[in-house]
This record gives sequence, C-alpha cells and structure tokens, in this order.
Amino acid sequence: MADIRNNFVGIKSPNPFWLASAPPTDKEYNVRRAFEAGWGGVVWKTLGEEGPPVVNVNGPRYGAILGSDRRLLGLNNIELITDRDLHVNLREMKVVKRDYKDRAVIASIMVPCEEAAWKAILPLVEETEVDGIELNFGCPHGMSERGMGAAVGQVPEYIEMVARWCKANTNMPVIVKLTPNITDIRYPAKAAKDGGADAVSLINTINSIISVNLDTFSPEPSIDGKGSHGGYCGAAVKPIALNMVAEIARDPETANLPISGIGGIETWRDAAEFMALGAGNVQVCTAAMTYGFKIVEEMITGLKNWMDESGHGTLEDFRGKAVGNVSDWQYLNLNYIAKASINQDKCIKCGRCHIACEDTSHQAITNMVDGERRFEVIDAECVGCNLCVSVCPVENCITMEPMDAGTIDERTGLKVSSEYANWTQHPNNPSKVAAE
Ligand SMILES: Cc1cc2nc3c(=O)[nH]c(=O)nc-3n(C[C@H](O)[C@H](O)[C@H](O)COP(=O)(O)O)c2cc1C
Ligand code: SF4
Ligand code: SF4
Repeated sequence: MADIRNNFVGIKSPNPFWLASAPPTDKEYNVRRAFEAGWGGVVWKTLGEEGPPVVNVNGPRYGAILGSDRRLLGLNNIELITDRDLHVNLREMKVVKRDYKDRAVIASIMVPCEEAAWKAILPLVEETEVDGIELNFGCPHGMSERGMGAAVGQVPEYIEMVARWCKANTNMPVIVKLTPNITDIRYPAKAAKDGGADAVSLINTINSIISVNLDTFSPEPSIDGKGSHGGYCGAAVKPIALNMVAEIARDPETANLPISGIGGIETWRDAAEFMALGAGNVQVCTAAMTYGFKIVEEMITGLKNWMDESGHGTLEDFRGKAVGNVSDWQYLNLNYIAKASINQDKCIKCGRCHIACEDTSHQAITNMVDGERRFEVIDAECVGCNLCVSVCPVENCITMEPMDAGTIDERTGLKVSSEYANWTQHPNNPSKVAAE
C-alpha cells in the first residue's frame, strides 16, 4: 500500500490533507472531529491581535454559484478572521495539539503591519506548541480595508518585511499565505522567499461580487439592502490556483520554495494534480464546508489506490512530475494535429456539438447526413479545438484523436510531420530566429 505520510517543511502529518484556515477550523470542537475523521492537519482559523475580537455581520455572509443540479461550484464569503477571543483560541489549540501529536496544527495569524504587533503575538502562539504559523496576507475583504490581509499581500516589500520579522522572532516554521488578487504571483512568492519564509501557501480567496438581486438591486449576500465584495473559492477557482502554483514551481528563482496548494480541492484527484505541479501538500476549505469532514476518507483511499495502481510508493514519487510539462505557448508543438471523433453508438443526437462548432467558427460537425439526423465530424474543417468534447453531455462520446505522422490532414492538404516545430521557428513569426 502506498505511503502517504507527509513532511512539509519539517511538519509531519499522516497524510497531505490539511483543512485550510476557515470556519471548519475555528474551534476545538470542530478540529477534534476533523482529526477523528482523518484530516492530517489543520490551519486554525486566523487569529487577530489581543483585545476585543472582530465583529462579523449578523446576516447572510455567503453566496454561491450553483450548477444546474444545484451542485455548489463557487462560494463567496464576507466573513472576517476569527471572532472568538485570542486566548480562548490559544488555549484550545494547545490542548488539541497535546492530544493529537501526530497531526499538524498551524496557527494562522493576521495582525497590523507593525513589528510590535507580530512580536507580541508570536510568543503567545509559540507557547501553545503548535507546529508552525501561516501569515494570512490573503483575505480580500474587511481586513484589507484595515491595512491587513490582501493589503499586505499585494505589496511584495511588505511581505518580505513581515516574513523577516517573523523569522527573527520565532523558531516556528513560517508559511506565507498568498493572495491571488495580484497580476503576477511570482513577485509575492519571491518576496516571501527573500524574507526567509519556509514556504508559501496559495491561494486565498479571489475578490468578487457573486450576484446582484434584481428586485432590490443589492449585491449579494445582502445585508439590509447593501452588499460588499467578498472572497471567492470552491471548485471554480481550482484552475486559477493550479496556474499560480505552477508559476511558482517552474520559476528558477522560486522553484525550490515549498508550496502548500489550496483552491477548489474536492477530491484526491484535485490534490494529486496540485502535488504533480509541485505542491508539497494541500489544504481544503469549501469542500469540507459543503460535504463535511468525512470527505477526507475518500481523499485518502482514492489517493492511495491511484498511487498503488500507478506505482508511486510515496508522495515524493510524483510530486512536481508535471512541472516540466508546463510550457510557454510558443514552445508547443505546432505539428501535433488532432481531430474530433464521434462514437455513433454513444451519441444521443442532442445536437449540442453541432451548434457549438457551427456557431463558434469551424462548421465541422454535420447535423444531417443523407436526410437523417446524424452528427459526424468533417475532417476537412476540424481544427481539433476540443469544444465539442467540452459541450457533449455523454462522457467519452467525442474523443480527440491525434493524426499519425505521414497521413494527410484534409484541412490543410499537408502531410502530418513527426518533427517537433514550435512558433519560435515558424515562417509566419515575424521575429523568428533565422536558421543557420
Ligand atoms: C467562509 C470562509 C472563511 C475563510 N476564512 C479564512 C481565514 O480566516 N483565514 C484564511 O487564511 N483564509 C480564510 N479563508 C480562505 C480559505 O482558507 C481558502 O484559502 C480558500 O477558501 C480557498 O480554498 P477552497 O477553494 O478549498 O475553499 C476562508 C474561506 C471561506 C470560504
Ligand atoms: S474539435 Fe472543434 S473544430 Fe473539430 S469538430 Fe470539435 S468543435 Fe468542431
Ligand atoms: S453533443 Fe455528443 S451526444 Fe450530442 S449530438 Fe454531439 S456527439 Fe452526440
């Protein structure tokens, strides 16, 4: 059986599945149940500085994008950091860590961007004997207007400065949680590294307005007729998170910076994808909020089964294996040619592929053949774009088939070449380097 024990910057956990800092990790009662369900670690709901805790709204704080089957695809929230007393949280963290020594407990922290504030809280956290800290430079709402969260995460110089303060004032591993609300994730990641951080975690939520109520004209979730931008997460944000993880993993300056992958992870497969792109472990929030703590059971068995079937003995066997295959567009092989192919036995003749292809651009799928309703790919028109596969409601009914070298592409009339040829050398490229 595959060994899925995890060692992330020296923090050990029985599996790579941590709960991200959010409501599921806001109190001892929850975290104990999460650990009983099998989670390898938790990042406790973000702690603020000593004194009266923050105050949340007392009405709706979440909004959602639902699929047609009411599956929750994306979640938006206007919640703040923990609204429970700092010392209550610290006490609970200490007893939970004492009782679950084999699990990872990380303290997420967000205090004002002043060294004194960080110096004050770090010893209090250290005293709980948790395994590390995560600096929350991510929340895009509420706290950012107070100069914290994403307001820090959007300024690489601040990230570097605070990471440096933390490294100077604690021996605990320091993980910097990055906001995706920036143009190029590599800058804050480099700043975290330059400040001495042990790792980065990403992504926090994406700034968003989820919907507008057209009766009241209030953005939702609506509080007495007004709405505020919030943080977007859940399955819908996974592609954004994967790309940001890959950008950090493949940049030579940050390639060895450990990454805790977060964003839209619902299944073992999502987790494995993050790890294949270089993440050392993963964190989950929305899926646990939607389906409950027990989803980790399927994540654990699914990951182990796949690793067994694929011959991966440990997580390190496949971690980062996809990084080298992330390429800039200009290096993609322009001689790779594929055509759609429709399995007539599976086709239910719904016509979606025809409409999509017809109205998008290519007119490469019939709807009638010899007076009969029939959907066939016209190879002479098909550019292999994959749109029909994406809209077909029947799994594996349409597949993309690569053409063999030496055969003729009916669309161009040219022979398919086995040579790799990319845009940098293409005759149409005005800046191509002339061949010697
Ligand atoms: C209701 C809610 C509250 C959150 N609170 C925090 C928080 O206090 N600190 C933090 O670092 N991230 C917070 N997050 C962000 C999550 O930890 C996570 O980064 C984000 O939701 C993306 O992961 P997901 O797609 O699995 O939900 C919160 C997310 C949600 C939905
Ligand atoms: S791959 Fe694209 S061009 Fe080809 S049939 Fe499908 S939708 Fe049309
Ligand atoms: S979308 Fe799929 S099922 Fe519908 S007509 Fe096209 S191939 Fe057939």
